[in-house]
Order: sequence, then C-alpha cells, then structure tokens
Amino acid sequence: MSLIGRHVLSSDLFDRDELERLFALADLLAPVARGREVVRVLEGAVMASLFFEASTRTRLSCESAFSRLGGSVISSTGAEIMSISKGESLADTSRVVSGYSDLIVMRHPEESAVHEFAAATNVPVVNGGNGAGEHPTQALLDMYTLHREFSRTGRSMDGRRIALVGDLRHGRTVHSLIKLVSLYRDLTIVCVAPGPLGMPAELLELAEGRGHRIELSDRPESGLKDADLVYATRLQTERFADQPLPYSDEFRIDRALVARACREDAVIMHPLPRDSRPGSNDLATDLNRDHRLAIFRQTDAGIPMRMALFASVLGVADQVPGALRPATWFQPEYTGPDDAPFYRNPAS
Ligand code: NCD
Repeated sequence: MSLIGRHVLSSDLFDRDELERLFALADLLAPVARGREVVRVLEGAVMASLFFEASTRTRLSCESAFSRLGGSVISSTGAEIMSISKGESLADTSRVVSGYSDLIVMRHPEESAVHEFAAATNVPVVNGGNGAGEHPTQALLDMYTLHREFSRTGRSMDGRRIALVGDLRHGRTVHSLIKLVSLYRDLTIVCVAPGPLGMPAELLELAEGRGHRIELSDRPESGLKDADLVYATRLQTERFADQPLPYSDEFRIDRALVARACREDAVIMHPLPRDSRPGSNDLATDLNRDHRLAIFRQTDAGIPMRMALFASVLGVADQVPGALRPATWFQPEYTGPDDAPFYRNPAS
C-alpha cells in the first residue's frame, strides 16, 4: 500500500507494516524535528491549514513539521473569519484552497465535514480532528510515542495491557487510537469511563474481532492496575448539548492514585490539553516530575511523526536519507527545564 496522494481521514488507512515504516522514517527525521539537522525535501511545497475549531498542538505541530521539511504554510483559523460565514459551501472552499496548496490539514466540529471537504479535491486532505469522530495524526504520534516508550523499557506492543480512561464516547483521539493499537496482537484493552461516556460499541467490536480482550470499568483505581499504558483524556465539554457532569474525583489521575494503582514502568499519556482548572479532575500536574508521565515526549513526537506522514503522502520519503545535513543554530540540550529526568531511562 502506498500513501502517496491519499487523503488521511481515518486511522483505518494504516496497517501494521505502514505504521512501522512511518516509525522508522520518524526516527530518521527526529534530529530535524529537534533543529539539529536540516532537510528540504518539500522545498517549494505549500500546506494550507484550515482550523474551524480550537487547536494549539495539532495546527502548530503540523505547520512546524511541514516547515521543517522545507515547505511553506498558509493558514486560516475560525469559521467566523472565513467565507464560510458568508454562506460559502465546504466544497467551494475546498476547491479554492486546493488551488493554493499541495496538502491541506483541516479540523471541523462536524464529523461529516472533512469527508465532504475531501470529496471536492484531489489535493491530499489530512483530518486534524472531525467532531467526535477521529484524529488520525494524533493516533499516529501516540503509537510512535508508545513504540519508543516500550522499546526503551524492553517491551513490545504485543501482549500489553492498555487502559483508555475518561470520555471515551466523545474523545476522537481514543477512537483513532483503539483502531491502531488493535493492529497489534493479544492485547487487553481496559476502557475506564463513567457510565454514559463509554467507548462506542462498534469500536469495541472491531478490537474484539481482531482477537483482543476487552474489559469495561468505571473505577480508575482498579482499571489502571497492571496497565502498561494509561491513556487519560479530557471531558469533551464542547460536545455536550447540555451542561456535562464533571468527572468525579475518582477520575483525577494524580500522584496518589498513580502510587496506589500503577506499575513502576507504566507509561502515562494524554493527548492534551489537560483541563487544569479546579474541580476538572483531569490528569493532575503533581505528576509533572514522574518519569512515567510521557505527555511532553508525546507532544515532541508529533513533529517527526507528522513529518513522516507528510513526506510519505507527498511521495518524497525515499529522498530523506540522502538529503539530511547538520543544522548550525543554537539548540538547548533539553527543550524544557524538567526534561532531563523525563528522558532518563527508568530501567537504567
Ligand atoms: C485533542 C483533540 O482536539 O481532539 N487535542 C489534540 O489534538 N491533541 C484532545 C482534546 O481536545 O481533548
């Protein structure tokens, strides 16, 4: 299967071989993502980013990734400042922007919008999040993070216990992620959610159909036990018609809960943003110096993985190895002041 020229709307597009090929390319591109090497395989190419919904990581990391490959970026955010607000259809917007760019990353609050948008263009469209649907590039970077975290602690993906925690009904990141983890073998997938916020049945069936064990729980304390991965998510308040009930404080994943429930080599991830307001009961900041918390390794991994995806979709992946050269500008040894313990191997 080739990714060249394909729309990336769902993580259904990827199989295990393709994932592993992307991991290898992302490894090669990691020094470019960190500003230590330069590669210009997309020189002259233009990416358009169209975000009709709030974003920090997805938009900026896609833009950074495309720029790091030597391409340029044009960008528009918010329906209110675009001609959609004058009654323009998504199909017209799609055709117009396609004339300005070689790849489009698009986020929209409605699930069907990205499909409608992609149907109106031959320029590859990458889904940057469609309502409560999917978020395939987040799932790719999550898998890449996991691959790295497990590799450095001597574990493979197969046979692992994976706990997905929080608003699994509306969280598009976990919808895309369960499809990708279930490409591996012999997993136990524990879905830990308050009653009405469980994982959609068709996704549970898909994972079961691929031979994995599914466990359902509404108690984080027991659900997190023995998990190799704890993947926490924010309550998707923007997807509720009525005022959502907050997570009970049982769902606050903090130092005390992790000390009671988690393995010493657990990997704790979250797509971010985490809701740090009082009473939100999301992933707590008192874990910030815990080596198991991989959230910033995860955001960092978004750049090389999105670079790998863009290079593959635009057909220049093969040129990367011969095009790398050293960068000469200043780079700090660690990006964040707390990163050194984060990057230390807990097994060493
Ligand atoms: C997520 C999203 O937008 O789906 N954020 C992201 O892209 N990393 C998760 C969220 O908003 O909770």
